[in-house]
Amino acid sequence: MAVSYWIAIILSLLATIDNHVFLLEASDVGVCYGTLGNDLPAATEVVNLYKKHSITKMRLFDPNTAALQALKGGGISVILGIQNQYLPALAASQEAVNAWFTTNVKPYLDGIELNYNAVGNEVIPGPLGNYVFPVMRFLPTMLDGRELSGIKVTTVVPGTALGSSYPPSSGVFAAEAVEVMTSIVQFLASTNSSLMINAYPYFAYKSDPANVHLDYALFTTKTSVIQDGPLGYYNLLDAIVDSFYTAMKKVGSPNVTVVVSESGWPSAGSGQFTTPELAGT
Ligand SMILES: *[C@@H]1O[C@H](CO)[C@@H](O)[C@H](O)[C@H]1NC(C)=O
Ligand SMILES: *[C@@H]1O[C@H](CO)[C@@H](O)[C@H](O)[C@H]1NC(C)=O
Repeated sequence: MAVSYWIAIILSLLATIDNHVFLLEASDVGVCYGTLGNDLPAATEVVNLYKKHSITKMRLFDPNTAALQALKGGGISVILGIQNQYLPALAASQEAVNAWFTTNVKPYLDGIELNYNAVGNEVIPGPLGNYVFPVMRFLPTMLDGRELSGIKVTTVVPGTALGSSYPPSSGVFAAEAVEVMTSIVQFLASTNSSLMINAYPYFAYKSDPANVHLDYALFTTKTSVIQDGPLGYYNLLDAIVDSFYTAMKKVGSPNVTVVVSESGWPSAGSGQFTTPELAGT
């Protein structure tokens, strides 16, 4: 059976609505290491692959012990996730968060460059959405107490956290997400952290191939496709990022940066839309 784990890209983007800067450096690209799947390669092999390709950032979805051990001393900076199913228990108390960290992270921390603790993956909007912010608030208290305040706290939201994203200057959080997102981005601003988004131009293209141009979704157009006031957009990912910047500005937090924590294009599964050629663009 083919290895069925998937990888996606982490991009650090700087795209501001006021002066349209798109900054993407090779050192800012990381790869998600998903540990759900069959026949996965050993963690040490995966970490060696990162080193071989000079990938210096990794997103881990949970504190996978083998992965954390393999990362030791490797100079790879890590975004470490807290899995969604633990959020209700962790939101209940500071002690629960402390205990989670002591058990799952602390034993492996030596020699690891932990940059971010990401509370939940794509839970806002959704039934677990209200558990995210309490956990986010407990984490710095615990980290400061251990002199680990360099570890930033964040969460990962999907495109559906936005109620409107087109054009980017009309970006706004979804009605069911706006209250919690307002608190979260204020927290991110006050802790100098970033908002992580999973942004898939692929899904936008797939849902509306007649109107979303393929070259716009795939970064291959040489001309600007969407004109939004003074700004011309050459690719859909940029537009999604700026929609989030607009939405944050509207709730009073214009200075929080956006990090794309997942993107990518499937290489199969949806006929003509998902070929290895398109995925390799
Ligand atoms: C905020 O974080 C960025 C890097 O993420 C850093 O360059 C900057 O100096 C920080 N600002 C403050 C005020 O700590
Ligand atoms: C955002 O950053 C600008 C420039 O550093 C600053 O003047 C402004 O007060 C900041 N806004 C907020 C809400 O922090």
